[in-house]
Order: sequence, then C-alpha cells, then structure tokens
Amino acid sequence: MFYANELSCMRQRTVLITGGNDGIGRATAQVLLERGFRVVIAGRSVEKLRAAVAMLQHRTGQDTVEYLLCDLSSNKSVHQAADEFGQRFSQLDILINNAGVFTNELRYSADGFELQFAVNYLGHFLLTQRLLPRLQAAPAARIINVSSVAHYHGTIDFDNLCGEQGPAAYDGLQAYAQSKLANVLFTRELARRYPRIESNCLHPGVVRTRIANKNTHWYFSLLWTLYKPFMRPTRCGASTPVYLALSPEVKGVAGRYFDELQCCRKPSELARDPELARELWEVSEQLVDMV
Ligand SMILES: NC(=O)c1ccc[n+]([C@@H]2O[C@H](COP(=O)([O-])OP(=O)(O)OC[C@H]3O[C@@H](n4cnc5c(N)ncnc54)[C@H](OP(=O)(O)O)[C@@H]3O)[C@@H](O)[C@H]2O)c1
Repeated sequence: MFYANELSCMRQRTVLITGGNDGIGRATAQVLLERGFRVVIAGRSVEKLRAAVAMLQHRTGQDTVEYLLCDLSSNKSVHQAADEFGQRFSQLDILINNAGVFTNELRYSADGFELQFAVNYLGHFLLTQRLLPRLQAAPAARIINVSSVAHYHGTIDFDNLCGEQGPAAYDGLQAYAQSKLANVLFTRELARRYPRIESNCLHPGVVRTRIANKNTHWYFSLLWTLYKPFMRPTRCGASTPVYLALSPEVKGVAGRYFDELQCCRKPSELARDPELARELWEVSEQLVDMV
C-alpha cells in the first residue's frame, strides 16, 4: 500500500524498531527504508545488527539505516541505548516496540525477571519512558507496540509477574500471553497519559519467522517449523506495523488494537480494564526502579 505525498514529507523522519535485525522487525525496517525513512534497528547482538544493516542496504539501495545496541533483558543496556539514541538524534518520529521472545521453560533476564515478561514488555516499558522526550520533540509521534492474538488468553498475575513461583508453576504459553496482554494494557495507558502521541498496538498475523525456533524445546521448534508453510510470509507481517506507522487513517487514533488485516478490533476484556492498565503501569515503574 502506498500513501500519497508520503515521500516528500517523510525524508527526514526517524523510526526506531526494536528487534529490527530479524523477522517482522527487519521486514518492517525494509519497507520503511523503501519509503524514505531514516531507520534505526535495535537489537542485542552487534554482529547480527551489522549483518542486518548490510542486508537492508543491499536490498533497498538506501544507506539511511543504522543500528543501536539494546538488550531488552537488561535495564542497564536499555538505559545505555536510550542515552546513546538521545546523543545521536534530536527527535524520534516513530517507535516500534517489536522485539519478542517465546520460550517454554522458565528463564530469567539479566535483572532476574521472567524472560518473556522482561523482553516482550518490561524492557519496552523502560525504553519508551526514556525515549519520551525525543518522541515529544517530534511533531506527530507514533508508538506502535507489537502484541499478539495470544493476549486474548492472557491474565496479569501480579504475584507471579517475574517468575517468583518457580519452574513448577511455569507455563510458557501463559507467560507469553501475559506479556502480550501487558503490551495492550501499556498501549492503553500510554494513550491516556500521553494523548498527543498516537500509541496503538497490533497482532501481525501468524508469520513465518524463527521466534519459536530460538528458545524452545526441540519438539516445539519442530512443530513450529512444520507449520511454517501455512504461515504468512515475513514481509506480510510488516503490513500492520507499516500501516500504523504511515497511514493517515491512524491520525488522532490512540490506545487501539489492530489485527493483521489492519482492522481495529476489540481486545480482550482484561485489556480494556483501565484500572488494570493503571496498576500494571505503577508496578512496572517500581520494577524498573528496583534494578
Ligand atoms: N511470528 C509470529 O507469528 C508472531 C505472531 C504474533 C506476534 N508476534 C510478535 O512479533 C514480534 C516479532 O517477532 P518475530 O516473529 O519477528 O520473531 P523473530 O524473528 O525472532 O524476531 C524477534 C526479534 O526480537 C529480538 N530480541 C529477542 N530478544 C531480545 C532482547 N533480549 N533484546 C533485544 N532484542 C531481542 C530478536 O533478536 P535475535 O535475532 O538476537 O533473537 C529479533 O530481532 C514479537 O513481539 C512477537 O511476539 C509474532
């Protein structure tokens, strides 16, 4: 899809995409580079980021792509990344909180939080907070949180947010769903607290990436691989992030959840609970301050 006049007004606009070295994030980076953005991809490995920058330059013929080292499982790394971004750029037009992990056994982040909650949600919560001054410096900033249809199965268990109840009580799919519900609640609360920023979230579709091949048991990885022929191509997974980044239809729209067809959908009942959104925000502030 092409939005009229976008090239002329977009030449200097900057987008930061977490998890931009692989999967949906890299596909989104490619489309936005093709549309004339200055693209910063964030990730946890310099080698992978360098390789992705080279690939994106090769595929698009554009050199306006850079990388930012940011391990979302470490608050220290997130702070360093935000500081570095602030030194390199005076404003941020679009932040796409895309990075994600799926694991079916209990793992902890560098800061001791359950890994999926830490990477998929808490690291993005902190990164977004730290980048708010740069977003507020942009004339029409947007924040896009990549959630999932899995959020419909999610609950927020404040007694076990960070894996406190140990491996016996751990269910990887439930923890993933919780982290994705947290993405939707975060979006809602962001929109309430920062109404000038258009913050929305999305489900990208079931997309042919390696997410469930990286940190899972062999049988789960095998199942994911067998299912791949029936998944959407990776580039299609970029459709909704790109739509939320570029479309004039999203102007003035905030706190909403979109599906892979770019339709605004009602998220789960829990995701629409304003008190839960507020409580999660307050608990998250305490968690990121603890480290
Ligand atoms: N694929 C699907 O069907 C699907 C469906 C619904 C929602 N989603 C969501 O879509 C988003 C993108 O996932 P994907 O399918 O494109 O998976 P992917 O190909 O594995 O990409 C995930 C990205 O996140 C990065 N990442 C992982 N841990 C990180 C950390 N600690 N710090 C910084 N970056 C980290 C990965 O880096 P490495 O390359 O170093 O691992 C990678 O760049 C996720 O939020 C996921 O939950 C995907």
